[in-house]
Amino acid sequence: MRKILFALAALGLLSAAATPKLSGAKAKAVMHERRDGMEKVGKTMKSLARQIKSGAPDMADVQNHAAVMNGLAQKAATWFPAGTGPNVRKTGAKAEIWQKPEDFAAKMKAFQIAAGTLNRAAQTGNAASAAAAFSDLGKSCKACHDSYRTEHH
Ligand code: HEC
Repeated sequence: MRKILFALAALGLLSAAATPKLSGAKAKAVMHERRDGMEKVGKTMKSLARQIKSGAPDMADVQNHAAVMNGLAQKAATWFPAGTGPNVRKTGAKAEIWQKPEDFAAKMKAFQIAAGTLNRAAQTGNAASAAAAFSDLGKSCKACHDSYRTEHH
């Protein structure tokens, strides 16, 4: 049963609250992975912004980073299992994530959809549709951070 739950969580099919509660070294490992992962999401976003806001984007570069972002977005749903909140150790993840699992899952889903849309737009090589999708992606980051991330930790 545990294995099945982890597999479902990895596919992003379960909300954070439904995943098994982690503890000890496992929780620590996930929290590390989450920070590293979000840091990569941030760096990838900066690379995308540099190209898209340049006016003459290098579409091959945009395509590479859009694909990386899409992969990270799919992975991100596994970074918030129960037992990895601020009561465990210092983290930028607010306790509200596990108090409002459905809303959090919806914001995660919006991020995944936006990253998928950007990836598809980038692969067509159309800079204008990639720019529009990039803007929506940025909104999905902000929507989640506004409710569920703190920088004071
Ligand atoms: C569904 C919620 C959610 C979405 C969507 C989301 N984030 Fe985050 N992000 C968080 C949370 C929560 C943290 C704090 C993680 C921690 O400290 O463990 C975080 C942390 C970060 C960090 C800090 C990492 C560090 O080094 O501490 C960066 C940078 C970041 N996010 C960028 C982004 C960008 C860019 C996007 C959109 C492309 C995005 N995030 C989308 C929830 C989200």
